[in-house]
Amino acid sequence: MAKDNLWSVAKAIVAKQKGVLAADESNPTIQKRFDTINVTSTEENRRRYREILFTTKDIERYIGGVILFDETLRQTTQDGTPFAELLSSRGIVPGIKVDKGAKALALHPEEKITEGLDGLRERLVEYKQLGAKFAKWRAVIEIDDRDIPTTFGIRANAHGLARYAALCQELGIVPIVEPEVLMDGAHDIERCEEVTSRVLEAVFTELDAHRVLFEGMLLKPNMVIAGMKCARQESVQRVAEATLRCLTRYVPAAIPGIVFLSGGQSAADATDHLNAINRTSPHPWQVSFSYGRALQAPVLAAWKGQESNVAAAQKTFLKRCRLNGLARDGKYDRAMEAAE
Ligand code: 13P
Repeated sequence: MAKDNLWSVAKAIVAKQKGVLAADESNPTIQKRFDTINVTSTEENRRRYREILFTTKDIERYIGGVILFDETLRQTTQDGTPFAELLSSRGIVPGIKVDKGAKALALHPEEKITEGLDGLRERLVEYKQLGAKFAKWRAVIEIDDRDIPTTFGIRANAHGLARYAALCQELGIVPIVEPEVLMDGAHDIERCEEVTSRVLEAVFTELDAHRVLFEGMLLKPNMVIAGMKCARQESVQRVAEATLRCLTRYVPAAIPGIVFLSGGQSAADATDHLNAINRTSPHPWQVSFSYGRALQAPVLAAWKGQESNVAAAQKTFLKRCRLNGLARDGKYDRAMEAAE
């Protein structure tokens, strides 16, 4: 019964045409995003911005789940409706970011470990009461030419992800497992594929050892892509092929859905890559998006913190949701970017 529930929530989040809006920026991160449009990061500005996103008409056609930050899960619309309730009433599953960020991994210079396991069981109980049906935990793996990541760094992060996922499932919450191999750096696509392969292999070994039900979780990986500073950037098709090769080798078919992070790609690139992946051969999982920046950067640029720009911001947001909804089924074309 509990297992069936996990599976049906996971399936609902990645239903046809749908993906996830990652709106779970921590306060320091949303501050960075607001800085780009000269908006002060006050609690009310953060609330208003999220309200603009969540009240955009018709997004429920393309958005199956929204990841919230702790503060946002406790906030309401102008008229007092809790955001989780608003989203649920629109058929969108509310979720919550539960990790406490990536910190320096002791005695492993330049590697990070995600914190937040202490007290997590109790926090999950509260989040569930507040309406969260799924959760997210992000591990960060950086690629460096000097043998980084280490095998231990990968294993430590995979272990953390698995402990988090097990705690979620114990309480009937669907875990989104996010091992992010960063796009920062000058590494080529081959190195990204090698590291992403090692990471996914370690993550599923740990998930299995922790008895995590694969049918009741979602995977949020990076695409296999050259580092942003690499001189050789690959074609959309090459990224799609490398990404699928890696996922096919290391991700069990029992996982209901793979929802990519955008990781610093432009909005159009993230959509184009997702589209190409969905066009390349059939695969056993739903393959969709869980984008933060690739859904929101154009919205922030349209909004600029001005009430007079809200309609334009919502129009921009709906367009990005719709295009990613198409890409998620392999029906997007880059020419659609120009059309209104
Ligand atoms: P980006 O799509 O901006 O990478 O964010 C997704 C996310 O949730 C990172 O944890």
